[in-house]
Amino acid sequence: MSNSQATQQTYRAINFADKLALFSDQWQARVVAEMNDYQFKVVRIEGDFVWHQHADTDETFIVLDGQLRIDMRDGFVMLSAGEMFVVPKGTEHKPFAEREVKLLLIEPRGVKNTGDETNERTAANDLWI
Ligand code: NI
Repeated sequence: MSNSQATQQTYRAINFADKLALFSDQWQARVVAEMNDYQFKVVRIEGDFVWHQHADTDETFIVLDGQLRIDMRDGFVMLSAGEMFVVPKGTEHKPFAEREVKLLLIEPRGVKNTGDETNERTAANDLWI
């Protein structure tokens, strides 16, 4: 069989907007892909999160839609759509969104969203969409 006759595999792009349209609840991240032991998660958040840190890993925030403020103990960063920020491991941080913001999070599989704390914002892990 020549190459032109070979069966073509279908590959599908992962579309963030399409994934986000599948749910409307806030603060519960959904996994859309994995790369080695890292997960890519989409999430909607609005309002104030809790101060926390991740002792073992950095955490990447990529804003897809809206505006996100991330407070740290010695300053803060404002992120708009198309911008990203990496919170270094062990750095206390508190995300805040005045209006709903849609994010892509990148972090290792199994990371708890509230870091070393457990509270009403603690969400389930490994929810795929
Ligand atoms: Ni965090």
